Amino acid sequence: MKTTYSAAILGGSGFVGGELYRLLSMHPHIDVQFVSSESKKGLAVERQLRSFRHHNDKPGLKFSSLSELKNSHFDLVFSCLPNGKLPQIISPLSERCTRLFNLSGDYRFAEDEINQAHYPATPGSLPPQMVSQYFVPEFTAQDSTARLINLPGCMAVASLYALYPLVKNELVCGRIFVDAKTGSSGAGKSSAETHAERANNFRLHKAFAHRHAPEIEKLQQLSRDPLALTFAAFSLDTARGIYVSAYSTLKPGLTAADVRQAFFSEYQHAPFVHYLKNGQVPMLKTVCGTNHAEVATLVEGDTCLSLCSLDNLIKGAAGQAVQAANLYLGLEAICGLQQLNEAGWP
Ligand SMILES: NC(=O)c1ccc[n+]([C@@H]2O[C@H](COP(=O)([O-])OP(=O)(O)OC[C@H]3O[C@@H](n4cnc5c(N)ncnc54)[C@H](OP(=O)(O)O)[C@@H]3O)[C@@H](O)[C@H]2O)c1
Repeated sequence: MKTTYSAAILGGSGFVGGELYRLLSMHPHIDVQFVSSESKKGLAVERQLRSFRHHNDKPGLKFSSLSELKNSHFDLVFSCLPNGKLPQIISPLSERCTRLFNLSGDYRFAEDEINQAHYPATPGSLPPQMVSQYFVPEFTAQDSTARLINLPGCMAVASLYALYPLVKNELVCGRIFVDAKTGSSGAGKSSAETHAERANNFRLHKAFAHRHAPEIEKLQQLSRDPLALTFAAFSLDTARGIYVSAYSTLKPGLTAADVRQAFFSEYQHAPFVHYLKNGQVPMLKTVCGTNHAEVATLVEGDTCLSLCSLDNLIKGAAGQAVQAANLYLGLEAICGLQQLNEAGWP
């Protein structure tokens, strides 16, 4: 069995790709050999990524253009490209890697109508050799034949952590209302919004038609009860972090104890999703900079408020991808991610 796996990061100069490079540089079994950026082509990766300002372990690795991929083969490719870019290169890329971990929204859905509404550049079909799977490490059984592993959206996965035990155990019915608040890094490095516009402010980003809503709506597949979702995303005055508040209606006769039991059972063995003790609430400060997510529930009458916090760039993106790759490689889910276990405090 191999002990070191070669990897390429596409879109390595972006927020997610840069964070992924930082995480993989600490990974004992994954060796990053190729990092793409069109704007920084030819420049030393660790001189460009600010998180490496005080480390110069690998000054030799330079950013490359995607076009330079054509003579290489990697065990793992992580695509951190913007939505719409991967479909343009997936056919030749499929010859260049054993497994492709995709962090964009392309290919998360098989349904044409969802792709047309939210990911219009995603074609309906994949190259025949690319069996694909939507993968949330805590909930999805690995398909060993899958070569394209599609990771969830950051606000979607925070919402899934807040709702999955309720829906899977059929504790709730009717409409679920989800508010997701996200920091500015969620929009990527080329966001048109300036710091001056974002700072000292809190506002609605998008209600009802957000592209992460269909991922949460897939929860319906777990329950015989008809469920409906109202989802709205808000912009926080912070760089990192997502905070989800989900309001649902418990079925008659159910209590806070039933809810606690469902969440405890679901997450008791999850290394990175922590169901908090009574009285504790999720925070951004305890999860930002780590691969941890915090979940809590509060029940009043038949109303359940479930909460989740996580770092959009790590548990919502780069750390989630490393966790998924670990599982596909037969490694422990926590491999290479333990160093991130403690967030700074205060
Ligand atoms: N930000 C988050 O919180 C988050 C969370 C989960 C998933 N995601 C997904 O992860 C992906 C990356 O997000 P991000 O926030 O890191 O975006 P980003 O900061 O804008 O970075 C995008 C990366 O893609 C490269 N790129 C852009 N256009 C390209 C093109 N036409 N051809 C080749 N390379 C191109 C950029 O490199 P150059 O400009 O240097 O060429 C950069 O390295 C997106 O699909 C996003 O939806 C993001």
